[in-house]
Amino acid sequence: MSGKFLIKGGVVVTPDGMKGRDLMIKDSKISRVGENLTANGFKTIDATDMIVSPGLVDIHCHLREPGYEEKEDIASGTAAAAKGGFTSVCCMANTNPVNDNAVVTEFIKKKAALAGPVRVHPIAAITKKLAGEELTEAGELAEVGAVALSDDGKCVRNAMRMRLALSYAKRFGLKVISHPEDTDLTDSGLMNEGYWSTALGLPGITRAAEETMIARDCILAETENTAIHIAHVSTRGGAEIIRQAKRRKIAVTCETAPHYIYATDEWVKDYDTNTKVNPPLRTEDDRLAIIEALADGTIDCIATDHAPHHIDDKNVEYTLAASGISGFETAFSICWTVLVKGGILSPEELFRKMTSAPAEILGLDAGITEEGNVADIAIIAPDAEWTVDPSKFVSRGHNSPFGGRTLSGMVKCTIAGGEIVYGGEWACG
Ligand code: DOR
Ligand code: ZN
Repeated sequence: MSGKFLIKGGVVVTPDGMKGRDLMIKDSKISRVGENLTANGFKTIDATDMIVSPGLVDIHCHLREPGYEEKEDIASGTAAAAKGGFTSVCCMANTNPVNDNAVVTEFIKKKAALAGPVRVHPIAAITKKLAGEELTEAGELAEVGAVALSDDGKCVRNAMRMRLALSYAKRFGLKVISHPEDTDLTDSGLMNEGYWSTALGLPGITRAAEETMIARDCILAETENTAIHIAHVSTRGGAEIIRQAKRRKIAVTCETAPHYIYATDEWVKDYDTNTKVNPPLRTEDDRLAIIEALADGTIDCIATDHAPHHIDDKNVEYTLAASGISGFETAFSICWTVLVKGGILSPEELFRKMTSAPAEILGLDAGITEEGNVADIAIIAPDAEWTVDPSKFVSRGHNSPFGGRTLSGMVKCTIAGGEIVYGGEWACG
């Protein structure tokens, strides 16, 4: 549903704070933000008691197409993103074939344009086939619209390769996103190494697997005098290394994911494979440290790491199950519940970490509600409570450990490029 809309009576998240304003949409753009605007021919959306935010921006998700359409495809993934309030998403390269060349990048962009107005930005691989050996053609990938380079899901083990990747990517204006995991240290680990891995008899993954790679990649970024972004920080030590690197003026940014803010390794105790994710859910101490690092600015933004899987990938024993959580449809509410309702971040700070901050990290033109900008909007009921039911997910991946949990903050309507992409019935019914 597209057209002329007047979103009336809400609190708008603007670059200078949250203000009671009306917001008008015309020709796919935000045409006005002001007080007491009148409808004259515009369809009115009543946003009384609602927050009118920039559409959320996710710089780390897995849309699975091409190749793993049984888990998700671009149409189902963007529909799930829209339901979660996201209007710009960046998808990782671990598809089949891997997004390590211009043809696959262009394919993803074309399929996304057909799927609808949620913006999909492909992240291409650092190395061909994600094998950690031969570098991809950064220049060509930048030219066809890749917004960053990452071997996410796999680590670039060879430090020299990573160093060269940083140097080439910089030349073509692309940022490298590190999946920080020393797989020699991960070994055959399945969950966080600690009390619960011992109690459950599951092989553990030491925090050192993540922390040594974060340290290596910060040092390489310093050596190459370039920027780097670290994906899904999950440990106290990892956050502390980044804090120190920032103090030393290394150009490092980082993200965490909603599950590290909300869940811990204790959740694995019933062997629910929906708790299997990489990096693994950590301890309560790590969870608190991640929250502190969000509050003090060490962690710049929140990304979903939406990783949908087919039931057959999860309905097996813990050892064999695929890692990942289907995250689009719970991301905002988890963050709102834990961080804002929990008194850690102001609403403005949370919106920044889910809109303009991630957009800035990858240089995306998104995340700001200002007159003249593309009309990407999420309308959110801040006090609404709801109980997660993964069977109702729009995503093809119903793999969530949050089923049955009650969360606050609910996305009611999402508008991308001036079109209602979620919540049309609520908005216009
Ligand atoms: O749990 C994860 N799942 N971590 C990753 O890094 C990759 C992702 C996937 O692609 O399923
Ligand atoms: Zn990753």
